[in-house]
Amino acid sequence: MTRTSACRLSGSPLEVVLDLGQQPLGNGFLLPDEFSDEYFFSLQCGFSEASRLFQLMEQPAPERMFHQDYAFFSGTSRHMKQHFADFASDVIGKGFITDDSSFIVELGSNDGIFLSHFAQKGIPHLGVEPSGAVADVAESQGITVTREFFDTNLSRRIRDEHGQADVISAANVMCHIPGINELAQGISLLLKEDGVLIFEDPYLGDIIRLTSYDQIYDEHVFLFSALSVQSIFSAVGMELIDLQPQLTHGGSMRYTLAKSGRRAISPTVQVILDQELAQGLDKTETFIQFALRVRESGERLRSKMQQLRSQRKTIAAYGATSKSTTIYNYAGIGPDLIDYICDNTPLKQGKFSPGVHIPIFAEEHFRSHPPEYAFLAAWNHEKELRQHNKAFEDAGGRWITHVPDVHILD
Ligand code: SAH
Ligand code: TMP
Repeated sequence: MTRTSACRLSGSPLEVVLDLGQQPLGNGFLLPDEFSDEYFFSLQCGFSEASRLFQLMEQPAPERMFHQDYAFFSGTSRHMKQHFADFASDVIGKGFITDDSSFIVELGSNDGIFLSHFAQKGIPHLGVEPSGAVADVAESQGITVTREFFDTNLSRRIRDEHGQADVISAANVMCHIPGINELAQGISLLLKEDGVLIFEDPYLGDIIRLTSYDQIYDEHVFLFSALSVQSIFSAVGMELIDLQPQLTHGGSMRYTLAKSGRRAISPTVQVILDQELAQGLDKTETFIQFALRVRESGERLRSKMQQLRSQRKTIAAYGATSKSTTIYNYAGIGPDLIDYICDNTPLKQGKFSPGVHIPIFAEEHFRSHPPEYAFLAAWNHEKELRQHNKAFEDAGGRWITHVPDVHILD
């Protein structure tokens, strides 16, 4: 566990802007015999106006979160499979990978959802993935993986062994890595002079706009904006050359960076940087206001569920997401309000949700024991979930969501 009172990038003092209380690991699904020694930490967020970085004050040790049994498998969503196929086509289509002598390194390659598109084409690639079960799935598809945490030492070793990379890619992992200065140095070392870094992560601008505070949990030590990404990489002589907003994870941003002066900069970069200044993503006050909306959102969700319960309605949740761990533990929503959670990840089924201990079943349970109301815990997969569960709605079942405010979906 590391706790800081200074910005991990600039070293300037951090102001605590949001306190989400004592929280367990977002993906720490567990069995009853593990309840008594469950791990909790203090989920507080700070902001630095110097670096524009929104970050956790305290984060559990990486090995506690990412290990053999890490429970998030990227391939559990059909929509995400398509997203990563399109992402790979975009990388190839833009000419960042030219031929089968190009080399791509992906950080946090998980079950190989992205690298599979390069491996299939015989393009030299390397996945960096410390979590065992997900790396097993990737390797079973012929993807080359090194089971380590990315840092400057590993970056040097990869460079010495394989040469520099044409592309370094990462999705939903840069925001997990606390040693941000070292991460940027490692990337710069490993990247060819004309290489590009392409990564995407949940986007701070959307989180503030939607009050989607459930994006804040142990793994997300940072929530980035283009302004903060610019601060991180300017220190190692790299610059943003493109920004592409994404719908994934309820609103993400794809950042493309190159070594300074090596590639043309898309006009979109300045447009989005200006939008962020207009949204106040450089100001502490914006996050203080956000914290007030978070409090209101948590209270409203709990009272909506309490009201339904007092009318003897049944409530379940769809998706044992890491995000919803924050909501349940912050708002005090447990098995008294939610009967069960359903999820298609075998590793989560038969376990209980972190902290509040709601039982988790397979999706079939939702079909055989449909509730009257279902909390859309995986709200970022709303389209896919509603398509799969038309029968629930046809039978009169209703969805509850908390984004952008607490309401029952039409
Ligand atoms: N890229 C996938 C997986 C995201 S989950 C997707 O977008 O769906 C984040 C993954 O990053 C996990 O599989 C985790 O084990 C891995 N990870 C965490 N810290 C890492 C680090 N320092 N270096 C490389 N991978 C890391
Ligand atoms: P995520 O929001 O972090 O992507 O997690 C989504 C969770 O929801 C993950 O555990 C898989 C689960 N899920 C289902 O159970 N059924 C589905 O149809 C989809 C898309 C996801």
